[in-house]
Amino acid sequence: MKAVVVPAFGDLEALRVRDWPDPTPGDDEVVVDVMAAGVNFSDLLVIGGHYQVRPSLPFVPGEEAAGIVSSVGKNVDSCRSGDRALVLVDSGAHAERVLAPQSSCFVLPAAMGFLEAAGFGLAFQTAHYALVDRANLQPGEVVLVTGAAGGVGLACVRLAKALGAQVLAGLGSAGKERAALAAGADATIRLSGERLRDSIPDEVRARTGGKGADVVVEVVGGDVFDGAFRSLAWRGRIVVVGFAGGQIPSIAANRILLRNVAVIGLNSSDYRQRHPQWMQRVQRELFALYGKGLLPAEPAECFPLEDAIRALAQLRDRRAIGKIVLTTDRWGQNTLGGEPA
Ligand SMILES: NC(=O)c1ccc[n+]([C@@H]2O[C@H](COP(=O)([O-])OP(=O)(O)OC[C@H]3O[C@@H](n4cnc5c(N)ncnc54)[C@H](OP(=O)(O)O)[C@@H]3O)[C@@H](O)[C@H]2O)c1
Repeated sequence: MKAVVVPAFGDLEALRVRDWPDPTPGDDEVVVDVMAAGVNFSDLLVIGGHYQVRPSLPFVPGEEAAGIVSSVGKNVDSCRSGDRALVLVDSGAHAERVLAPQSSCFVLPAAMGFLEAAGFGLAFQTAHYALVDRANLQPGEVVLVTGAAGGVGLACVRLAKALGAQVLAGLGSAGKERAALAAGADATIRLSGERLRDSIPDEVRARTGGKGADVVVEVVGGDVFDGAFRSLAWRGRIVVVGFAGGQIPSIAANRILLRNVAVIGLNSSDYRQRHPQWMQRVQRELFALYGKGLLPAEPAECFPLEDAIRALAQLRDRRAIGKIVLTTDRWGQNTLGGEPA
């Protein structure tokens, strides 16, 4: 099969699309013929060797894919060959076939196409853990999402709206406002310029009658984190999800105490490893919201697998809006996807 291969940790430019051995399922595993695979910021970290887990070299990156189950191990009872499915994996999704544990394989709702499905795993699960479990979001609360036009950001905007929140979309780049508003954001907040530690709370207070944000989902780090933290309302919660801007912020504990706020961490892959049943319940809830039309999830941009470098560079260079998806040759021959081939 063809796969994107990382020969050494470093720049994207070293990636090659080349032949790679076909996977064979173990007793509790499935193999999926990939139609489309999601691209995530964490792929950049893994490829650069900056992620908390470093796969042994060479390896195939990619953490989520959608396609057709082509073979299953003898203990697998949650899906069968021929099923349309989404899988989440630690690596290996940017290929024509991917191996996944059955616990991370989800049969798709009939109405969901492969392109949608390829971007419906990691970002929406992260949004769900952040808003529901970590932040305990309540209907009517105000949520500020940073990096709101990115993969996780747009998923947070959509899910927070579906859960009845008022949503402020924090954006650092010009030209992304339309996507955030179309996803349901009530207003945008500027995350670029000087003195973000003052300008972000000023804007958030102006939008909320002086109250501030009950919940912040923070994916950027650095000065954006500082400003977002200062935007919190009384008893607000800020969920630390990522550092796409490259700077890990620090915070003096007295500021948490003085303002009666909570700083909460999220590591979504940890839920998958520690508590697969929890992840499965979350995915079922997300599919149910999708079924009610509350979570449209169409990818913004598709690239053929061969163009993986260009696709990943969109995220690296902050040009991506929403999800980026890689498609395989099988996608072109697809008749089961729900979208025109
Ligand atoms: N903790 C977890 O479990 C978990 C799970 C998934 C993802 N993450 C993390 O969440 C973050 C977002 O992931 P994603 O897949 O949504 O990424 P993405 O689609 O690339 O979105 C990231 C957003 O961050 C903003 N940004 C600010 N500075 C940036 C920079 N120097 N480079 C790139 N983007 C920058 C961009 O918005 P503007 O251009 O508008 O500023 C961009 O839209 C990443 O740090 C990722 O590692 C964490």
